Amino acid sequence: MKKIMKLCLAFVLALSLCNIQIIEANNGINEFVRRLYKECLNRNADANGLQYWVNRIEKKEISVHEMVQGFFFSNEMNKANLNVWQWTDRCYKTLLNRKADAKGKEYWVNILIHKMSRREMLDQFMQANEFKKLCESYGLKVEQNTKPQTQNTTTGDALKDYVVRLYRNVLGREADSAGLEHWFTLLMEKRTTPYLVATESFFHSAEFNQRSLSSQALVNILYATFLNRTPDVQGNAYWLSRINRKESRDAIIHDFATSVEFKSLMEKTGWKARSNAYIAARLNNVNDILIVANKKHKLPDYYEPTGLVAPNVNHRNGTQFMRPEAARALERMFAAARQAGMYLIAGSGYRSYATQVSTYNYWASLYGYAGADRVSARAGYSEHQTGLAMDIGRDDGYAYLDTAFEYTAEAQWLKENAYRFGFILRYPKGKEHITGYSFESWHFRYIGEDYAKALVSEGGLEYTMEEYFGFEGGVNY
Ligand code: DAL
Ligand code: ZN
Repeated sequence: MKKIMKLCLAFVLALSLCNIQIIEANNGINEFVRRLYKECLNRNADANGLQYWVNRIEKKEISVHEMVQGFFFSNEMNKANLNVWQWTDRCYKTLLNRKADAKGKEYWVNILIHKMSRREMLDQFMQANEFKKLCESYGLKVEQNTKPQTQNTTTGDALKDYVVRLYRNVLGREADSAGLEHWFTLLMEKRTTPYLVATESFFHSAEFNQRSLSSQALVNILYATFLNRTPDVQGNAYWLSRINRKESRDAIIHDFATSVEFKSLMEKTGWKARSNAYIAARLNNVNDILIVANKKHKLPDYYEPTGLVAPNVNHRNGTQFMRPEAARALERMFAAARQAGMYLIAGSGYRSYATQVSTYNYWASLYGYAGADRVSARAGYSEHQTGLAMDIGRDDGYAYLDTAFEYTAEAQWLKENAYRFGFILRYPKGKEHITGYSFESWHFRYIGEDYAKALVSEGGLEYTMEEYFGFEGGVNY
Protein backbone atom coordinates (compact mmCIF):
# COMPACT_ATOMS: atom_id res chain seq x y z
CA MET A 1 0.00 0.00 0.00
CA LYS A 2 2.77 2.38 1.04
CA LYS A 3 4.54 1.59 -2.17
CA ILE A 4 1.53 2.53 -4.18
CA MET A 5 1.15 5.78 -2.24
CA LYS A 6 4.78 6.60 -2.90
CA LEU A 7 4.40 5.90 -6.56
CA CYS A 8 1.35 8.06 -6.74
CA LEU A 9 3.10 10.87 -4.99
CA ALA A 10 6.06 10.60 -7.31
CA PHE A 11 3.72 10.65 -10.22
CA VAL A 12 1.90 13.73 -9.03
CA LEU A 13 5.19 15.42 -8.32
CA ALA A 14 6.51 14.55 -11.74
CA LEU A 15 3.33 15.78 -13.27
CA SER A 16 3.48 19.08 -11.49
CA LEU A 17 7.13 19.54 -12.36
CA CYS A 18 6.28 18.77 -15.87
CA ASN A 19 3.49 21.25 -15.70
CA ILE A 20 5.74 23.91 -14.40
CA GLN A 21 8.07 23.29 -17.29
CA ILE A 22 5.26 23.49 -19.78
CA ILE A 23 3.93 26.65 -18.28
CA GLU A 24 7.36 28.25 -18.37
CA ALA A 25 7.96 27.38 -21.97
CA ASN A 26 4.42 28.06 -22.64
CA ASN A 27 4.03 30.96 -24.93
CA GLY A 28 1.12 31.46 -27.27
CA ILE A 29 2.88 30.14 -30.33
CA ASN A 30 3.69 26.93 -28.57
CA GLU A 31 0.10 26.36 -27.61
CA PHE A 32 -1.16 27.40 -30.99
CA VAL A 33 1.06 24.84 -32.71
CA ARG A 34 -0.13 22.18 -30.29
CA ARG A 35 -3.61 23.13 -31.21
CA LEU A 36 -2.89 22.67 -34.90
CA TYR A 37 -1.55 19.20 -34.23
CA LYS A 38 -4.54 18.27 -32.13
CA GLU A 39 -7.35 19.73 -34.21
CA CYS A 40 -5.97 19.54 -37.71
CA LEU A 41 -3.87 16.37 -37.62
CA ASN A 42 -5.88 14.78 -34.85
CA ARG A 43 -2.91 13.83 -32.69
CA ASN A 44 -0.58 15.24 -30.06
CA ALA A 45 2.40 17.26 -31.16
CA ASP A 46 5.70 15.39 -31.28
CA ALA A 47 8.59 17.29 -29.75
CA ASN A 48 10.51 17.72 -33.01
CA GLY A 49 7.54 18.91 -34.96
CA LEU A 50 6.57 21.35 -32.26
CA GLN A 51 10.08 22.75 -32.14
CA TYR A 52 10.23 23.04 -35.90
CA TRP A 53 7.10 25.12 -36.30
CA VAL A 54 7.68 27.28 -33.26
CA ASN A 55 11.18 28.09 -34.50
CA ARG A 56 10.03 29.05 -37.93
CA ILE A 57 7.40 31.37 -36.57
CA GLU A 58 9.73 32.90 -33.99
CA LYS A 59 12.36 33.57 -36.63
CA LYS A 60 9.62 35.05 -38.79
CA GLU A 61 10.44 32.63 -41.58
CA ILE A 62 6.74 32.11 -42.14
CA SER A 63 3.48 33.71 -41.16
CA VAL A 64 0.71 32.13 -39.11
CA HIS A 65 -1.25 31.82 -42.36
CA GLU A 66 1.51 29.87 -44.01
CA MET A 67 1.92 27.63 -41.01
CA VAL A 68 -1.79 26.80 -41.05
CA GLN A 69 -1.50 26.03 -44.75
CA GLY A 70 1.49 23.87 -43.96
CA PHE A 71 -0.65 21.77 -41.64
CA PHE A 72 -3.71 21.54 -43.83
CA PHE A 73 -1.71 20.64 -46.92
CA SER A 74 0.82 18.37 -45.19
CA ASN A 75 1.48 14.85 -46.41
CA GLU A 76 -0.06 13.59 -43.23
CA MET A 77 -3.29 15.41 -43.92
CA ASN A 78 -3.20 14.34 -47.51
CA LYS A 79 -2.97 10.71 -46.47
CA ALA A 80 -5.98 11.14 -44.21
CA ASN A 81 -7.91 11.63 -47.44
CA LEU A 82 -10.74 13.65 -45.93
CA ASN A 83 -13.91 14.10 -47.89
CA VAL A 84 -15.39 17.59 -48.19
CA TRP A 85 -17.58 17.13 -45.11
CA GLN A 86 -14.71 16.00 -42.94
CA TRP A 87 -12.48 18.72 -44.36
CA THR A 88 -15.10 21.34 -43.54
CA ASP A 89 -15.42 19.99 -39.98
CA ARG A 90 -11.67 20.23 -39.56
CA CYS A 91 -11.62 23.82 -40.78
CA TYR A 92 -14.35 24.87 -38.38
CA LYS A 93 -12.83 23.16 -35.36
CA THR A 94 -9.25 24.16 -36.02
CA LEU A 95 -9.72 27.71 -37.22
CA LEU A 96 -12.97 28.87 -35.67
CA ASN A 97 -12.79 26.71 -32.55
CA ARG A 98 -16.30 25.36 -32.89
CA LYS A 99 -18.38 22.67 -34.46
CA ALA A 100 -19.83 23.55 -37.82
CA ASP A 101 -23.49 24.46 -37.65
CA ALA A 102 -25.55 22.49 -40.16
CA LYS A 103 -26.27 25.41 -42.44
CA GLY A 104 -22.73 26.69 -42.49
CA LYS A 105 -21.42 23.25 -43.18
CA GLU A 106 -23.74 22.70 -46.10
CA TYR A 107 -22.85 26.09 -47.49
CA TRP A 108 -19.13 25.38 -47.49
CA VAL A 109 -19.50 21.88 -48.81
CA ASN A 110 -21.45 23.28 -51.72
CA ILE A 111 -18.76 25.89 -52.31
CA LEU A 112 -16.07 23.22 -52.23
CA ILE A 113 -17.86 20.99 -54.67
CA HIS A 114 -18.69 23.67 -57.17
CA LYS A 115 -16.56 26.70 -56.85
CA MET A 116 -13.52 26.88 -54.69
CA SER A 117 -10.37 24.96 -54.12
CA ARG A 118 -9.60 23.83 -50.58
CA ARG A 119 -6.79 26.33 -50.53
CA GLU A 120 -9.12 29.19 -51.37
CA MET A 121 -11.57 28.05 -48.75
CA LEU A 122 -8.86 27.87 -46.10
CA ASP A 123 -7.88 31.44 -46.99
CA GLN A 124 -11.47 32.51 -46.51
CA PHE A 125 -11.59 30.93 -43.07
CA MET A 126 -8.40 32.71 -42.11
CA GLN A 127 -9.95 36.02 -43.14
CA ALA A 128 -12.79 35.47 -40.69
CA ASN A 129 -13.01 37.53 -37.54
CA GLU A 130 -13.48 34.40 -35.50
CA PHE A 131 -10.09 33.20 -36.62
CA LYS A 132 -8.48 36.52 -35.80
CA LYS A 133 -9.99 36.41 -32.34
CA LEU A 134 -8.79 32.88 -31.83
CA CYS A 135 -5.27 33.91 -32.76
CA GLU A 136 -5.46 36.87 -30.44
CA SER A 137 -6.46 34.62 -27.59
CA TYR A 138 -3.07 32.94 -28.10
CA GLY A 139 -1.39 36.33 -28.16
CA LEU A 140 -0.78 36.02 -31.90
CA LYS A 141 -1.35 38.78 -34.33
CA VAL A 142 -2.53 37.62 -37.73
CA GLU A 143 -1.20 39.60 -40.57
CA GLN A 144 -3.43 40.21 -43.54
CA ASN A 145 -2.35 37.99 -46.36
CA THR A 146 -0.48 40.58 -48.36
CA LYS A 147 0.96 38.15 -50.85
CA PRO A 148 0.10 38.99 -54.43
CA GLN A 149 -2.66 36.93 -55.99
CA THR A 150 -1.35 33.82 -57.65
CA GLN A 151 -0.51 34.22 -61.33
CA ASN A 152 -2.70 31.40 -62.49
CA THR A 153 -5.72 33.32 -61.36
CA THR A 154 -8.84 31.26 -61.58
CA THR A 155 -12.18 32.70 -62.58
CA GLY A 156 -13.22 32.63 -58.97
CA ASP A 157 -10.20 34.61 -57.85
CA ALA A 158 -10.66 37.23 -60.52
CA LEU A 159 -14.33 37.67 -59.77
CA LYS A 160 -13.53 37.88 -56.11
CA ASP A 161 -11.02 40.60 -56.89
CA TYR A 162 -13.82 42.53 -58.49
CA VAL A 163 -15.97 42.26 -55.36
CA VAL A 164 -13.00 43.27 -53.24
CA ARG A 165 -12.55 46.33 -55.47
CA LEU A 166 -16.21 47.25 -55.04
CA TYR A 167 -15.89 47.22 -51.28
CA ARG A 168 -12.56 48.97 -51.24
CA ASN A 169 -13.41 51.71 -53.72
CA VAL A 170 -17.15 52.23 -53.62
CA LEU A 171 -17.65 51.74 -49.90
CA GLY A 172 -14.15 52.76 -48.91
CA ARG A 173 -13.54 49.76 -46.69
CA GLU A 174 -12.35 46.19 -46.82
CA ALA A 175 -14.90 43.50 -47.59
CA ASP A 176 -16.27 41.60 -44.62
CA SER A 177 -16.19 37.90 -45.26
CA ALA A 178 -19.97 37.45 -45.23
CA GLY A 179 -20.42 40.22 -47.77
CA LEU A 180 -17.65 38.93 -49.96
CA GLU A 181 -19.16 35.46 -49.93
CA HIS A 182 -22.60 36.78 -50.67
CA TRP A 183 -21.69 38.68 -53.82
CA PHE A 184 -19.16 36.18 -54.99
CA THR A 185 -21.68 33.37 -54.73
CA LEU A 186 -24.32 35.30 -56.67
CA LEU A 187 -21.77 36.01 -59.39
CA MET A 188 -20.53 32.45 -59.52
CA GLU A 189 -24.10 31.21 -59.80
CA LYS A 190 -24.69 33.81 -62.49
CA ARG A 191 -27.71 35.07 -60.60
CA THR A 192 -26.35 38.53 -61.05
CA THR A 193 -23.80 40.23 -63.27
CA PRO A 194 -20.80 42.46 -62.67
CA TYR A 195 -22.91 45.29 -64.10
CA LEU A 196 -25.83 44.79 -61.72
CA VAL A 197 -23.75 44.33 -58.59
CA ALA A 198 -22.14 47.69 -59.17
CA THR A 199 -25.01 49.75 -60.52
CA GLU A 200 -27.85 48.43 -58.41
CA SER A 201 -26.15 47.52 -55.20
CA PHE A 202 -22.83 49.10 -54.37
CA PHE A 203 -23.34 52.47 -56.05
CA HIS A 204 -26.88 52.59 -54.73
CA SER A 205 -26.06 51.65 -51.17
CA ALA A 206 -26.60 53.97 -48.24
CA GLU A 207 -22.95 53.46 -47.39
CA PHE A 208 -21.87 54.94 -50.71
CA ASN A 209 -24.46 57.70 -50.67
CA GLN A 210 -23.30 58.86 -47.28
CA ARG A 211 -19.81 59.52 -48.55
CA SER A 212 -19.28 63.07 -49.63
CA LEU A 213 -16.95 62.87 -52.58
CA SER A 214 -15.35 65.48 -54.76
CA SER A 215 -15.77 65.05 -58.51
CA GLN A 216 -12.18 63.92 -58.74
CA ALA A 217 -12.61 61.36 -55.97
CA LEU A 218 -15.62 59.95 -57.80
CA VAL A 219 -13.68 59.63 -61.03
CA ASN A 220 -10.87 57.87 -59.20
CA ILE A 221 -13.36 55.47 -57.67
CA LEU A 222 -14.97 54.71 -61.01
CA TYR A 223 -11.64 53.95 -62.63
CA ALA A 224 -10.43 51.83 -59.75
CA THR A 225 -13.67 49.87 -59.49
CA PHE A 226 -14.42 49.19 -63.12
CA LEU A 227 -11.09 49.48 -64.86
CA ASN A 228 -8.75 48.55 -62.04
CA ARG A 229 -6.44 51.45 -62.79
CA THR A 230 -5.90 55.15 -62.19
CA PRO A 231 -7.36 57.63 -64.69
CA ASP A 232 -5.37 58.69 -67.72
CA VAL A 233 -5.20 62.46 -68.30
CA GLN A 234 -7.65 62.62 -71.18
CA GLY A 235 -10.16 60.26 -69.67
CA ASN A 236 -9.98 62.08 -66.38
CA ALA A 237 -10.78 65.42 -68.01
CA TYR A 238 -13.62 63.90 -69.99
CA TRP A 239 -15.38 62.38 -66.96
CA LEU A 240 -14.76 65.41 -64.79
CA SER A 241 -16.44 67.62 -67.34
CA ARG A 242 -19.46 65.33 -67.49
CA ILE A 243 -19.76 65.29 -63.72
CA ASN A 244 -19.34 69.04 -63.50
CA ARG A 245 -22.06 69.51 -66.10
CA LYS A 246 -24.26 67.88 -63.46
CA GLU A 247 -24.99 64.78 -65.48
CA SER A 248 -26.64 62.19 -63.31
CA ARG A 249 -24.34 59.91 -61.40
CA ASP A 250 -26.28 56.90 -62.57
CA ALA A 251 -25.72 57.76 -66.20
CA ILE A 252 -22.00 58.05 -65.61
CA ILE A 253 -21.82 54.84 -63.61
CA HIS A 254 -23.82 53.09 -66.31
CA ASP A 255 -21.34 54.23 -68.95
CA PHE A 256 -18.42 52.85 -66.99
CA ALA A 257 -20.24 49.59 -66.33
CA THR A 258 -21.00 49.11 -70.02
CA SER A 259 -17.64 50.31 -71.32
CA VAL A 260 -15.66 48.10 -73.64
CA GLU A 261 -12.72 48.23 -71.27
CA PHE A 262 -14.75 46.97 -68.32
CA LYS A 263 -16.36 44.25 -70.40
CA SER A 264 -13.06 43.03 -71.70
CA LEU A 265 -11.58 43.08 -68.21
CA MET A 266 -14.50 40.95 -67.03
CA GLU A 267 -14.10 38.61 -69.97
CA LYS A 268 -10.49 38.08 -68.98
CA THR A 269 -11.77 36.88 -65.62
CA GLY A 270 -13.58 34.19 -67.58
CA TRP A 271 -16.88 35.78 -66.66
CA LYS A 272 -18.52 35.34 -70.03
CA ALA A 273 -17.36 31.89 -71.00
CA ARG A 274 -17.66 30.60 -67.49
CA SER A 275 -19.77 27.66 -66.67
CA ASN A 276 -19.49 25.72 -63.49
CA ALA A 277 -20.85 22.54 -62.06
CA TYR A 278 -23.54 24.32 -60.09
CA ILE A 279 -25.04 25.95 -63.16
CA ALA A 280 -24.53 22.91 -65.36
CA ALA A 281 -26.48 20.85 -62.84
CA ARG A 282 -29.35 23.30 -62.93
CA LEU A 283 -29.40 23.56 -66.71
CA ASN A 284 -29.68 19.79 -66.94
CA ASN A 285 -32.17 19.23 -64.17
CA VAL A 286 -35.59 18.89 -65.68
CA ASN A 287 -37.26 19.97 -62.45
CA ASP A 288 -35.26 23.18 -62.31
CA ILE A 289 -36.59 26.38 -63.86
CA LEU A 290 -33.31 26.66 -65.75
CA ILE A 291 -33.77 23.36 -67.63
CA VAL A 292 -32.51 23.70 -71.19
CA ALA A 293 -34.44 22.45 -74.17
CA ASN A 294 -32.90 23.08 -77.57
CA LYS A 295 -31.70 20.99 -80.49
CA LYS A 296 -28.65 19.84 -78.55
CA HIS A 297 -30.50 19.27 -75.29
CA LYS A 298 -33.28 16.75 -75.31
CA LEU A 299 -35.76 16.33 -72.49
CA PRO A 300 -36.34 12.90 -71.01
CA ASP A 301 -38.75 10.89 -73.17
CA TYR A 302 -42.36 11.62 -72.35
CA TYR A 303 -41.34 13.94 -69.53
CA GLU A 304 -44.25 15.75 -67.94
CA PRO A 305 -43.79 18.43 -65.27
CA THR A 306 -45.64 17.88 -62.03
CA GLY A 307 -48.20 20.31 -60.63
CA LEU A 308 -49.11 22.09 -63.86
CA VAL A 309 -51.68 24.84 -63.37
CA ALA A 310 -53.76 27.09 -65.58
CA PRO A 311 -52.63 30.71 -65.19
CA ASN A 312 -55.48 32.99 -64.28
CA VAL A 313 -55.44 34.99 -67.53
CA ASN A 314 -57.34 34.92 -70.80
CA HIS A 315 -56.71 31.83 -72.88
CA ARG A 316 -57.01 30.91 -76.49
CA ASN A 317 -57.20 27.42 -77.98
CA GLY A 318 -58.63 26.02 -74.76
CA THR A 319 -57.08 26.14 -71.31
CA GLN A 320 -53.28 26.45 -71.23
CA PHE A 321 -51.07 25.11 -68.47
CA MET A 322 -47.70 26.02 -66.99
CA ARG A 323 -45.56 25.16 -64.03
CA PRO A 324 -46.90 27.07 -61.01
CA GLU A 325 -44.02 29.53 -60.63
CA ALA A 326 -44.22 30.41 -64.33
CA ALA A 327 -48.03 30.67 -64.21
CA ARG A 328 -47.92 33.11 -61.27
CA ALA A 329 -45.31 35.23 -63.02
CA LEU A 330 -47.37 35.22 -66.21
CA GLU A 331 -50.37 36.51 -64.27
CA ARG A 332 -48.30 39.37 -62.88
CA MET A 333 -46.97 40.15 -66.33
CA PHE A 334 -50.41 40.18 -67.95
CA ALA A 335 -51.73 42.40 -65.15
CA ALA A 336 -48.90 44.88 -65.71
CA ALA A 337 -49.54 44.80 -69.45
CA ARG A 338 -53.19 45.52 -68.74
CA GLN A 339 -52.12 48.56 -66.71
CA ALA A 340 -50.23 49.70 -69.77
CA GLY A 341 -53.37 49.32 -71.85
CA MET A 342 -52.67 45.96 -73.47
CA TYR A 343 -54.89 42.92 -73.56
CA LEU A 344 -52.92 39.71 -73.85
CA ILE A 345 -53.88 36.07 -74.20
CA ALA A 346 -52.12 32.84 -73.35
CA GLY A 347 -52.07 30.92 -76.63
CA SER A 348 -49.90 27.86 -76.07
CA GLY A 349 -48.22 26.81 -72.85
CA TYR A 350 -47.36 23.27 -71.81
CA ARG A 351 -47.42 20.81 -74.70
CA SER A 352 -46.98 17.12 -74.04
CA TYR A 353 -44.59 14.99 -76.04
CA ALA A 354 -47.56 13.59 -77.96
CA THR A 355 -48.94 17.06 -78.72
CA GLN A 356 -45.53 18.14 -79.96
CA VAL A 357 -45.46 15.18 -82.34
CA SER A 358 -48.62 16.47 -83.99
CA THR A 359 -47.51 20.13 -83.82
CA TYR A 360 -44.27 19.32 -85.60
CA ASN A 361 -46.05 17.13 -88.15
CA TYR A 362 -48.51 19.91 -88.83
CA TRP A 363 -45.67 22.31 -89.72
CA ALA A 364 -43.94 19.61 -91.72
CA SER A 365 -47.11 19.09 -93.74
CA LEU A 366 -47.05 22.78 -94.59
CA TYR A 367 -43.33 23.45 -95.11
CA GLY A 368 -41.65 20.08 -95.33
CA TYR A 369 -39.27 18.79 -92.64
CA ALA A 370 -36.47 21.28 -93.25
CA GLY A 371 -38.95 24.13 -93.07
CA ALA A 372 -40.61 22.71 -89.98
CA ASP A 373 -37.25 22.42 -88.22
CA ARG A 374 -36.84 26.19 -88.44
CA VAL A 375 -40.08 26.98 -86.65
CA SER A 376 -40.96 23.94 -84.61
CA ALA A 377 -39.14 21.62 -82.25
CA ARG A 378 -39.26 17.88 -82.73
CA ALA A 379 -40.96 16.05 -79.90
CA GLY A 380 -38.71 15.84 -76.85
CA TYR A 381 -36.87 19.05 -77.74
CA SER A 382 -39.56 21.64 -77.22
CA GLU A 383 -39.47 24.21 -74.48
CA HIS A 384 -43.23 23.90 -74.37
CA GLN A 385 -42.79 20.45 -72.86
CA THR A 386 -41.07 22.01 -69.83
CA GLY A 387 -44.19 23.97 -68.84
CA LEU A 388 -42.05 27.10 -68.66
CA ALA A 389 -42.88 28.67 -72.03
CA MET A 390 -45.90 30.52 -73.35
CA ASP A 391 -46.81 31.73 -76.82
CA ILE A 392 -48.51 35.03 -76.16
CA GLY A 393 -50.91 36.85 -78.41
CA ARG A 394 -53.22 39.80 -78.54
CA ASP A 395 -56.70 39.38 -77.15
CA ASP A 396 -58.32 40.23 -80.49
CA GLY A 397 -56.26 37.51 -82.18
CA TYR A 398 -54.47 39.93 -84.46
CA ALA A 399 -51.29 38.42 -85.97
CA TYR A 400 -51.33 35.43 -83.65
CA LEU A 401 -48.10 33.43 -84.20
CA ASP A 402 -47.44 35.62 -87.19
CA THR A 403 -44.38 37.62 -88.16
CA ALA A 404 -46.58 40.75 -88.11
CA PHE A 405 -46.98 40.37 -84.34
CA GLU A 406 -43.50 41.83 -83.97
CA TYR A 407 -44.79 45.27 -84.97
CA THR A 408 -47.58 45.44 -82.43
CA ALA A 409 -47.28 47.54 -79.28
CA GLU A 410 -47.98 44.33 -77.33
CA ALA A 411 -44.97 42.51 -78.76
CA GLN A 412 -42.78 45.54 -78.10
CA TRP A 413 -44.04 45.86 -74.54
CA LEU A 414 -43.48 42.16 -73.87
CA LYS A 415 -39.96 42.25 -75.24
CA GLU A 416 -39.05 45.24 -73.09
CA ASN A 417 -40.76 44.19 -69.88
CA ALA A 418 -40.83 40.40 -69.74
CA TYR A 419 -37.57 40.14 -67.81
CA ARG A 420 -39.08 42.08 -64.92
CA PHE A 421 -41.37 39.10 -64.40
CA GLY A 422 -38.75 36.44 -65.02
CA PHE A 423 -39.45 35.83 -68.71
CA ILE A 424 -37.19 36.27 -71.70
CA LEU A 425 -37.83 36.49 -75.41
CA ARG A 426 -36.44 33.07 -76.22
CA TYR A 427 -35.99 33.18 -80.00
CA PRO A 428 -34.85 36.71 -80.87
CA LYS A 429 -34.27 38.09 -84.33
CA GLY A 430 -30.94 37.21 -85.91
CA LYS A 431 -30.16 34.47 -83.39
CA GLU A 432 -31.37 31.49 -85.38
CA HIS A 433 -27.86 30.05 -85.63
CA ILE A 434 -27.69 30.09 -81.81
CA THR A 435 -31.19 29.14 -80.70
CA GLY A 436 -31.95 26.91 -83.67
CA TYR A 437 -35.25 28.64 -84.50
CA SER A 438 -36.29 31.64 -86.51
CA PHE A 439 -37.47 34.75 -84.72
CA GLU A 440 -40.61 34.26 -82.62
CA SER A 441 -41.82 37.55 -81.20
CA TRP A 442 -44.49 35.66 -79.22
CA HIS A 443 -42.57 32.90 -77.45
CA PHE A 444 -41.53 33.77 -73.89
CA ARG A 445 -39.66 31.50 -71.54
CA TYR A 446 -39.65 31.70 -67.75
CA ILE A 447 -36.23 31.50 -66.06
CA GLY A 448 -36.97 33.42 -62.85
CA GLU A 449 -36.52 37.11 -62.11
CA ASP A 450 -32.88 36.96 -61.01
CA TYR A 451 -31.74 35.20 -64.11
CA ALA A 452 -33.92 37.10 -66.54
CA LYS A 453 -32.63 40.36 -65.16
CA ALA A 454 -29.04 39.18 -65.13
CA LEU A 455 -29.29 37.92 -68.70
CA VAL A 456 -30.78 41.15 -70.01
CA SER A 457 -28.34 43.34 -68.09
CA GLU A 458 -25.50 41.34 -69.55
CA GLY A 459 -26.46 41.17 -73.18
CA GLY A 460 -29.64 43.15 -73.78
CA LEU A 461 -33.19 42.24 -74.72
CA GLU A 462 -32.11 39.90 -77.50
CA TYR A 463 -29.60 37.90 -75.54
CA THR A 464 -30.10 34.15 -75.41
CA MET A 465 -29.79 31.51 -72.73
CA GLU A 466 -27.17 29.81 -74.92
CA GLU A 467 -25.02 32.94 -74.86
CA TYR A 468 -25.55 33.87 -71.23
CA PHE A 469 -24.95 30.45 -69.75
CA GLY A 470 -22.53 29.34 -72.43
CA PHE A 471 -24.10 26.06 -73.55
CA GLU A 472 -24.46 24.60 -76.98
CA GLY A 473 -27.30 25.35 -79.35
CA GLY A 474 -27.58 25.73 -83.09
CA VAL A 475 -29.78 24.58 -85.96
CA ASN A 476 -28.60 20.99 -86.14
CA TYR A 477 -29.82 18.19 -83.93
N1 DAL B 1 -41.74 26.90 -81.72
C1 DAL B 1 -40.86 26.37 -80.74
C2 DAL B 1 -39.45 26.39 -81.19
C3 DAL B 1 -41.24 24.98 -80.32
O1 DAL B 1 -41.80 24.27 -81.13
O2 DAL B 1 -40.93 24.60 -79.23
ZN1 ZN C 1 -43.57 28.72 -78.54
